Amino acid sequence: MLEGRVGRLSWRASQPFGAEVEGDLSQPLTPEEAACLRKVFYDHELIIARGQTLTLEQQQTLAGHIGPVLAGGRGMEYVSPDDGVLNEAALTFHSDLAFAPEPFQALSLHAVDVAENRTSTRFANAHRAYERMRDGLKGRIAGMKAISMSVDLGPVRATPHEVPANSIHQTWNVVRTHPVTGRKFLYVSESHTVQIVGLSHEASEDLLHTLFEELYADDNRIEHVWRNGDFLLWDNLAIQHGRPDLMGVRPRRLQRAAVAEHSLVEQLPDFFDRAAAGAPMGA
Ligand SMILES: [Fe+2]
Repeated sequence: MLEGRVGRLSWRASQPFGAEVEGDLSQPLTPEEAACLRKVFYDHELIIARGQTLTLEQQQTLAGHIGPVLAGGRGMEYVSPDDGVLNEAALTFHSDLAFAPEPFQALSLHAVDVAENRTSTRFANAHRAYERMRDGLKGRIAGMKAISMSVDLGPVRATPHEVPANSIHQTWNVVRTHPVTGRKFLYVSESHTVQIVGLSHEASEDLLHTLFEELYADDNRIEHVWRNGDFLLWDNLAIQHGRPDLMGVRPRRLQRAAVAEHSLVEQLPDFFDRAAAGAPMGA
């Protein structure tokens, strides 16, 4: 479906992916509206609602329609250029916590105080990339595995091929099946994937760059330019995110809610002792 209305909510599909939702999301949703939000979320993988005024608790309640939310200080609640985590860095495309056992299920950002039209978050659709891929390439990567590792995030891909024994990493099928929708999606990213298992460095990089061309094609990505009141909610498996640098952009305060059973530290208690760099938790 390309558009619809349930109760106080209406929505319309956007191109090349995502959906715009209209309605006051600060008010509790009826069961029918909540079911609509959930369906639009999984059908379109990225929801954009403008003109919202949401407290952190209201944002957490909304994200809670998708799954358990990291509330009560268990997750990062604001992203800003001065947050001491990612600061002003440009970030290549990634899925939050791809290097951990349980990457986040969904992420939400809400612009509470931003310099309007001066800063953005980018999204690429990993499910659509797989769906559009030619059969020969699908056959080539079937059954392959790739390693995602916690590395320095920045404006360009800068991953080693080697995987040190003490590094924080996770091995994934290159093509994963979404646990809710059953759709197949690519689970490699320019930020975190260091190698395709069993290939030489050169062959691994060649294949990864072929996949990145599919993932990050101009017609498979969108750039959301922030205005105050924007509320975004996206599937952290089907959709990857990144951003240009934030040099000179002030303010850029985005209120954040993450959908996950377990936080980064709950999954990896020694993460901040072992990690060489901050975890990619915002954008
Ligand atoms: Fe992130």
